[in-house]
Amino acid sequence: MRIFKFDTIDSTNKFLKNLKDREEYDLVIAKTQSAGRGRRGNVWLSEEGAGLFSFMLKEDKEISMDEYAKLPIVIGYSILKAMEKISGLKMLFKWTNDVYLNGKKLSGILVEKDGDNFIIGIGININNTEFFELNDFATSLKKETGNDYSIDEVIFKVIEEFKIQYERFVNKEWDIILKEINTVNYLFGKRVKIVGIKEELEGIAGDILESGKLEIYIGQETREFNIGEIHICK
Ligand code: BTN
Repeated sequence: MRIFKFDTIDSTNKFLKNLKDREEYDLVIAKTQSAGRGRRGNVWLSEEGAGLFSFMLKEDKEISMDEYAKLPIVIGYSILKAMEKISGLKMLFKWTNDVYLNGKKLSGILVEKDGDNFIIGIGININNTEFFELNDFATSLKKETGNDYSIDEVIFKVIEEFKIQYERFVNKEWDIILKEINTVNYLFGKRVKIVGIKEELEGIAGDILESGKLEIYIGQETREFNIGEIHICK
């Protein structure tokens, strides 16, 4: 494991993608990013004070790609556990991989596959407090507590926690992890809108299922969702 630190970089995920001879848990940390990338091609606001980092995980050939579809959930849960330990605050897990604090987004994950490697990019709002047009939707540890936190400490805690949860996952303890996650399921009981490619539906979110999908009650029907955007109805 090597650690690469930058004041500014375009994107920590991109750096790892271009790195030759990548090793397990190679870690890239940046204070700011000029081209931070979010999921679905979104831009990720990368202000100083946030935890912006990516690390490398080699694919384990014993684990199927169907199983690996659950990896973002395992990562999101690891962030939640680490952040709770550091702050003492209660967090919720928003399927598929975000951590929510007091109803607002605290962290996001971008997992990319490059050959036999997963590049796991994480953005956590730690000491940054300005979210511009996203002020109603995002928050940080500092915004909620008034305290400053050590960004490195948060990053290393997240990786430590990920190693614990990933080992449980590899050791086939997914059903136990899932039970725990369903106790902190942010979407449970909330009215959600599902915006798919072909259709737009509304329903009430239920549990996260063994498959990693989310169950949603739509009228008399229970359906399972994997892809497609889930919005919470206001
Ligand atoms: C999301 O859309 O919620 C995922 C955001 C992921 C952002 C992180 S910040 C560090 C890493 N580098 C990037 O360019 N993106 C990820």
